[in-house]
Amino acid sequence: MAGAEPLPFSFMDHCWILIGMMGAGKSSVGRALADLSGRPFWDTDQMLQIKLGRSISQIFQVYGEDAFRDHETCLLKSLTAESAVLSTGGGIVLREANWSELARLGTTIYLRAKPDTLIERLESSKKKRPLLLVDDWQNRLKALLELREPLYLQADIVVDMDDENVNSAAEAVLNAIRKVESD
Ligand code: S3P
Repeated sequence: MAGAEPLPFSFMDHCWILIGMMGAGKSSVGRALADLSGRPFWDTDQMLQIKLGRSISQIFQVYGEDAFRDHETCLLKSLTAESAVLSTGGGIVLREANWSELARLGTTIYLRAKPDTLIERLESSKKKRPLLLVDDWQNRLKALLELREPLYLQADIVVDMDDENVNSAAEAVLNAIRKVESD
């Protein structure tokens, strides 16, 4: 007897995972995308703060960046693939081991933005970024972006954020996902 046809990937539970630099809009666009699609919104930084009972800045201060990355990987491993929107910390792409977890969890979407766009958004953001607590943080940001860009480009989908507001960006992301998932 012939077995049932396997369900296409788009019908299986899987996350839409937003990756990209600090200031790219992963959290704000992620929330708007969650509203638009009716999916729950998850955020790795938020989950880590709840798990460790400290802000991201405090986690960096008390435990250091390596320990923060360990916790990040551990958290990713603990997640199950569900129909959620998952926003991640900008450095999630740095650890090789995280990529197999991201692939297990779902579709990765790189929210790509130019340095000037990121700088403008970070200037008006209230969120503290421990990696940017230096005088020439703009150059630090540019250096980090240069280093990480090839990693971000490993995403399944790339969506440019420069000319978008939060709602139009969420729509652009949803359209890009639908296009890829209907192929
Ligand atoms: C980091 C980005 C932050 C946070 C931590 C490290 C990074 O998240 O995870 O400060 O390495 O880029 P956002 O990208 O949401 O700012």
